Amino acid sequence: MDGFDLAPLLAPEGWRLLESLPPYDPDQALALGESLRREGHSPALVAAALTQQRLRGRATAKFGPFAARMLFTPDALEQATRLAVSAHHASRYARAGSQYVADLGCGIGGDALALASLCPRVLAVDRDEPTAALATVNLSPFPNAEVRCADALEVDLRAEGVDAVFADPARRAGGRRIADPESWSPPLGRVLALREQVAALGVKAAPGIDHALLPADAHVQWVSVDGEVVEAGIWCGPLAPEGPGRSALVLRTGADGAPAPHVLADPDCADPSAPPTQLDPVTGAEELGEFIHEPDGAAIRAGLVAHLAGRLGATPVGHRIAYLTGTRPVGPELAPFVRTWRLVEVLPLHLKALRSRVRSRGIGRLEIHARGVDVSPDALRASLRPRGDVGEVWLLTRIGSRGDGGHGRSPRGAVLVVEPVGPSTGQSPAAPSSQAHDSHPST
Ligand SMILES: C[S@@+](CC[C@H](N)C(=O)[O-])C[C@H]1O[C@@H](n2cnc3c(N)ncnc32)[C@H](O)[C@@H]1O
Repeated sequence: MDGFDLAPLLAPEGWRLLESLPPYDPDQALALGESLRREGHSPALVAAALTQQRLRGRATAKFGPFAARMLFTPDALEQATRLAVSAHHASRYARAGSQYVADLGCGIGGDALALASLCPRVLAVDRDEPTAALATVNLSPFPNAEVRCADALEVDLRAEGVDAVFADPARRAGGRRIADPESWSPPLGRVLALREQVAALGVKAAPGIDHALLPADAHVQWVSVDGEVVEAGIWCGPLAPEGPGRSALVLRTGADGAPAPHVLADPDCADPSAPPTQLDPVTGAEELGEFIHEPDGAAIRAGLVAHLAGRLGATPVGHRIAYLTGTRPVGPELAPFVRTWRLVEVLPLHLKALRSRVRSRGIGRLEIHARGVDVSPDALRASLRPRGDVGEVWLLTRIGSRGDGGHGRSPRGAVLVVEPVGPSTGQSPAAPSSQAHDSHPST
C-alpha cells in the first residue's frame, strides 16, 4: 500500500472527525485544515482525514454516493472496479446461483461490495494487511461478507465450501503496468488453474490481453464505459451462459446518469483464443464511401471489427485499421458500438499542406484522431497552431493495403476530413475514447 498513515482514522476520534467533514472542496481544503488544527486535532489526524475526504470526492465517479462511507488509498482506488461494472460481474454470479463467492485479491472491496449485494455469502481475501483493513470497513454494511488477510492461492476453497471465485489480479507494480499476465499477482495461469477446484471462475484481465492466452472454453467480454475500455472479463463454467466466445459490453451514461448496457457478440466465434478475422481494405481513396465508422474500443479489442463491418456493409479503410467505410448510415441497433462521421475530403498527410489549409481557412478548432499512423494528434495540432473560428475534424490514417498508401501523393498516410453525422440518421453517436488511437490492437 502507498505509504500514508491511516491509523489515526481508525481510532474513534479520527472516525468521528472524518464523518463530520463536508464533501471535498479544493478551494476550502487549506482553510479547513487550519481550523481543524486550531481546534486541537493532531496534524497527522487532520492530514489523514483531509486525504480521505479528497479521495472520497474522487471516488464518487466510481462508487457514487457509497464513496462517502468508504475508505481508500490512491492506488487501491485507481485499481478498484467501478460500481457500474462490478454490478455486471456480480449479476453473473447471482444468475449462476452462486452461494459462496471468494473474491481473491479484493483490494478495497470494489467488486466484493457488488458481490455481497447480490450473493448470499462472500469471502474477500487480500494479502496486504492495510488494504484488507480498508476492505473490512468498506464491507461493514454487509454481514454476509467476511474479509480475510491471506494469500489468495493459499485459501483452501474446497474446505471453505466456496462454490465460485472472482479474481482481479494486481497488474501494476511501482506505478507501472505489467504487460505479462504471468507477472500479475496472482499470475493469470495460477488463477485459471483454480477451475480444477471451482467451475464458476471469473477473472478481470487487462483489455489488451493477447487472445491466444485466453481459455478456449471461456466467454470473454470486453467492457467499455463511455468510450474507455476498462477490462476483459474471462468467464468460465456457469458464469458464461453465452457459451465460449467473445463479446463487447458497452456502457454509456444516459441522460438520467445511469449507464445503459449494450452487448455485441459475434455468433460465429466460439473460441475466444482464435485470431479475429481480418478483412481486406479498400484499394484506394477512390473506394471510400460517404460514411466512416469507428468501432467502440471494446468491440475492437473483442475482435468484432469484421463482424461490425459485415453488419454495416462497410470495409476497413486500411490494412488492420479500425476505421470502416461504407455508403450506409448506422442504424439504431449498431449505433452504441460505432461513432460515425460523413467523409468530406481526403488530403495527403503532409505537414506543409495541412499548415496552409489551417491558415487559409481560419481553422481554430481542430479535433484530430489517429489510427495506424505514427503521428501524435496533440503534437500535430500544436505544430499547426490553429487560430480562427472554423472547426474541423480530421482522421489521420492509412488507406489501402499494407505498403500501399493508397493515396497517390502520400504513401505514409492520409487525412480524412469528416463531419459528425447528426441526429437525422437516428443515430446517437458514441463518444470518442480519446483524441489519439492506434491501429487495431489485436485484430
Ligand atoms: C486490482 S486489485 C483488486 C481490486 C478490486 N477488484 C476492487 O474492485 O477494489 C488487486 C489486489 O490483489 C491483491 N493481491 C495481489 N496478489 C495477491 C495474492 N497473492 N493474494 C491475495 N491478494 C493479492 C493486491 O494487494 C490488490 O489489493
